[in-house]
Amino acid sequence: MNEATATLIEQMLARVRTGLPAHDNVPQIRRWLDFNNHRFGPVVDAPLDCDHVAILDASLEPEKLGHPSRDGGENLTLWWRAMQARVAPRIGIGRYAEDRGIYDHPEEVRDDKARKIHHAIDIFLAPGTNVLCPFPGTVEDFGNDAERHGFDGIVILRHETDDGVPFWTFYGHLAPSGLAILQRGQRVAPGAVIGRLAAETENGDWPPHLHFQLMTHLMGWKAIEVNGLSRSDQWELWREICPNPNIVLGIGADCAAPVARSKAQLLRERQRHLAPSFSLAYDAPLKIVRGSGCHLYDETGAAYLDMVNNVAHVGHAHPRVVAAASRQMHDLNTNSRYLHDNLATYIRRLAEILPPELSVIYLVNSGSEANDLALRLAHAHTGARDVVVVDHAYHGHLSSLIDISPYKFDGPGGEGRPAHSWVAEMPDPYRGRLRSGDKEIGPAYAESVATLVMDMIALGRKPMAFIAESIQGCGGQIPFPPGYLQAAYGHVRREGGLCIADEVQVGFGRVGTHWWAFETQGVVPDIVTMGKPIGAGHPLAAVATRPEIAANFANGMEYFNTFGGNPVSAAIGLAVLDVIRDERLLANARDRAAQLMDGLRRLAQQHRVMGDVRGLGLFIGVEFVKDRGTLQPDADALKRLIEAMKSARILLSSEGPHHNVLKVKPPLVISAAECDHFLGTLGRTLRDLSL
Ligand SMILES: Cc1ncc(COP(=O)(O)O)c(C=O)c1O
Repeated sequence: MNEATATLIEQMLARVRTGLPAHDNVPQIRRWLDFNNHRFGPVVDAPLDCDHVAILDASLEPEKLGHPSRDGGENLTLWWRAMQARVAPRIGIGRYAEDRGIYDHPEEVRDDKARKIHHAIDIFLAPGTNVLCPFPGTVEDFGNDAERHGFDGIVILRHETDDGVPFWTFYGHLAPSGLAILQRGQRVAPGAVIGRLAAETENGDWPPHLHFQLMTHLMGWKAIEVNGLSRSDQWELWREICPNPNIVLGIGADCAAPVARSKAQLLRERQRHLAPSFSLAYDAPLKIVRGSGCHLYDETGAAYLDMVNNVAHVGHAHPRVVAAASRQMHDLNTNSRYLHDNLATYIRRLAEILPPELSVIYLVNSGSEANDLALRLAHAHTGARDVVVVDHAYHGHLSSLIDISPYKFDGPGGEGRPAHSWVAEMPDPYRGRLRSGDKEIGPAYAESVATLVMDMIALGRKPMAFIAESIQGCGGQIPFPPGYLQAAYGHVRREGGLCIADEVQVGFGRVGTHWWAFETQGVVPDIVTMGKPIGAGHPLAAVATRPEIAANFANGMEYFNTFGGNPVSAAIGLAVLDVIRDERLLANARDRAAQLMDGLRRLAQQHRVMGDVRGLGLFIGVEFVKDRGTLQPDADALKRLIEAMKSARILLSSEGPHHNVLKVKPPLVISAAECDHFLGTLGRTLRDLSL
């Protein structure tokens, strides 16, 4: 590469890394292409719709292909030929942005890095096929790159946007003999033949195909110097210099491959385009590319045991869930305004596992939507607005829910408690006002709810609802003391308020002994909200309530939810319920919970930093303290532990108002061996850190 081009690359890389376009013309060219592509003519005289093309995947690992680029390239030729033969008579398409594992040959490695990311789209057609100019241009340059596995005949056309901004189209693997008719600067009209595809014999041993590349900058290159591939660590730049040429070709297939980028590149892109309020786990973030069962895999293939994912309830990427989604996606996805078997079956199946009183179901897309709808239902039924919440609770990210989430309104950036939110004391048997040893602490803590309701009434207001998770989650993984919800529900109902159980985190059998955690408190809520595990990663959520509450909500205003209850979501929800049943996951939750609680309690006997081990089923918290007498929280020790466990390839996180509660809530499919591995590693790590 010449020195001027190398300098240009460095300068442009510096620009894109600070969030600027590679050069000033990029946005204008992109815009012109977007709004003018309907006028472009064909580049090859062949049908490129989805029925006539097939993708040739050259991203496979070279091991699987027997290193086709070894052996002086002999195998490379054979490989492409075989790939094309496999899809014939369809037209083979080589993808844009593909990381071409097949070019992983020492000869292809330059500058210590392999140039393997493909800048162009390849179209495999018969030799002699005419190549056409798609829109007005002039001949910029042409040449013959006659090296073996070079481009052979090349043409570069220069074009201009309506504002006179130049850009180029690049055509490789043309028959060199056909270039004689061209002259630099010559005008080329749309539809004019600019060359024809070379036969293998005159084409450096490549099977006949067109390498079609779009370029927003020529980088100081002559035709025979142009790169058709780039280094993956420079992709941020090259995707702007050589944008996806399908904007010109209009091939009806997915001919762009996703480019795997380095963590540094991904971080830069996140910082540039993702709102800064989103956070990442860990000091050095992980790039996770695959999941299976209780494991997540990073880009190097390293496996991490996921001990904290209650969304992947039945395990990551469960094959039955994936198959159900893809099957239904293949047939139909639309809104709930048409009759569909999936919706009807799913709401019946959900109703079957809920208390019979809660027979009416709404399907929505997130836990927040479910809780917001619960508030609307409660308002329609009671006419009131005031809500009692448990201190430190979190119920979702919508405005209506930030208002009733002390974790948010009292936390960083919060604007304090709104007048309609009433915050009840958190019933925390470990560090609260009343401790485990005290008598009847559940009902005693619920007195706080009674007091708030009385205060409300004294002000001439009345309770609309009491909302609580059935086990406190963000508040620190705290199972409520016995009798708490029963007493709290009683106080609110006495004054006409409804009781909402937020089962977004803890539902669907996580507690093992019951489908719902509220059942462990011997209550039946008026409204139950469900989310996270319900769709094993798919955005599905639900609200269940009593018919008379639903009837009051149906006041003439239609409830329309574009995605809620669509056939794909319902298929996924059904698959999750089937897996829980068929893989005996309720029993597994019980057994593994017993194993984990036993192991954690044993560790707590040896490590005084583990002040409290608590939980219900596979929803477990371990509270880290500096001193078991004063209960001074030790968030720092927990942070160090979580980072060290990550190094040992186990994923965990912290919770609670003091950030000192280790949160353990693995997928329900966790095995006995995985629990043993977790406990063993935790013990070793605690010892290594001298905790
Ligand atoms: C208890 C609880 N309720 C509601 C929500 C909101 O769910 P989503 O993030 O799906 O909107 C969450 C999310 O963390 C939650 O933990």
